[in-house]
Amino acid sequence: MNPVRKSLLTIFILFFVCVLFTYLLGSCKKEQNTKGIQLMQQEIPAGFPAPLHTFNDNPLSKEGFELGRKLFYDERLSIDNQHPCSSCHQQIAGFGTFEHDRSHGVNNSHTLRNAPVLFNLAWSPFFHWDGEFTTLQDEAAQPINGHIEMGESFEGVINKIKDDQDYQEQFKKVFRSPFIRPEFILKALEQFTGYMVSADSKYDRYKKGTATLTVQENAGYQLYKINCATCHPEPMFTDHKLHNTGLAVDPFLNDFGRMRITNKKEDSLKFRTPTLRNTYISSNYMHDGRFNTIGQCINHYRTGVQASSTLDPLLTNGITLTDTEANNLFVFLRALTDSAFLRDTRFSKPQ
Ligand code: HEC
Ligand code: HEC
Repeated sequence: MNPVRKSLLTIFILFFVCVLFTYLLGSCKKEQNTKGIQLMQQEIPAGFPAPLHTFNDNPLSKEGFELGRKLFYDERLSIDNQHPCSSCHQQIAGFGTFEHDRSHGVNNSHTLRNAPVLFNLAWSPFFHWDGEFTTLQDEAAQPINGHIEMGESFEGVINKIKDDQDYQEQFKKVFRSPFIRPEFILKALEQFTGYMVSADSKYDRYKKGTATLTVQENAGYQLYKINCATCHPEPMFTDHKLHNTGLAVDPFLNDFGRMRITNKKEDSLKFRTPTLRNTYISSNYMHDGRFNTIGQCINHYRTGVQASSTLDPLLTNGITLTDTEANNLFVFLRALTDSAFLRDTRFSKPQ
């Protein structure tokens, strides 16, 4: 090859390599520019597995989290300006609805189901009692548009908040855009709800060796390991699966759980296992909030289980416990309460 052609070829190859390299670098780069905001690390308590949701397409930042917190407590996200996320997800109840079977939404409506607690969500493969949603962003869109929960539209929300100077600045800082877009609202809410972690109960301190369980709590812990841990395993206290636990169908609600989503008979009456963390303060219980005490939940397993073709085989004969054992189990469940989380001002209504 003559030297001119050779050097032309070299230049061409070099140019091609450069273009390829720049392209690869660009596609590795986070989709969002994070200059000027304080990035935050996800909290992963000792003993927890790796989280499933890692904010890859939504870099977690102090500013993004604060924006999500403000939106979570803002009544303007609902059509009647009275039903913010926090009206159903209350911090004193682990972000469930305190002492309610089902929650109140707009137009005097009631939700179909009991509002779940909101913490450790980054570890959950799906959301809702029937596992309908798999991401926190899709999940947050549902109540804003849902006619029972908040009844608003994104257009309506954005019209109400777009002239608020604080919001303008916050959205601009986090998402680098002069406009407020629906996806930014959802991303900010994901940062707030997905960041909340609860792992500082007496049980957790016992596991770290900084607290001791009473004799009764310890007896309850052993009973839990034998009877409950298959579906409510440590450290999350849920297996993140769906089961039919033999609760009778409420003829008024007619809720068949997972079958609503899949239309499959084998999914009839299957509901997602809720965590037992903070259960002591998150009354009411079960998907429709039919029980208001933990004692009633435990008694359901002892004497209330209804047979049906999809009943979980573990519960065919119910769970046998004496009254003392049931009480010890209750005392252990109480030790799963993380009072610091319930008072943590990082998650409270912004002042
Ligand atoms: C009117 C009451 C109400 C309002 C308002 C409300 N929610 Fe909910 N939320 C619920 C109920 C009920 C469920 C369970 C729905 C189901 O399983 O069918 C739920 C489920 C969730 C879940 C899933 C939790 C899990 O573990 O499955 C998240 C996350 C959530 N809501 C976040 C929000 C956010 C963010 C807002 C505000 C944009 C909000 N919610 C507004 C009642 C409400
Ligand atoms: C076969 C799996 C399975 C076993 C075994 C099991 N649970 Fe559950 N548990 C579930 C599921 C699923 C739900 C939700 C059921 C629903 O709402 O339809 C639930 C709900 C609960 C609730 C209500 C929590 C809330 O926030 O609503 C409590 C409390 C509870 N279980 C405690 C226990 C205890 C204590 C044991 C052992 C004695 C136990 N469970 C054994 C699967 C199980």
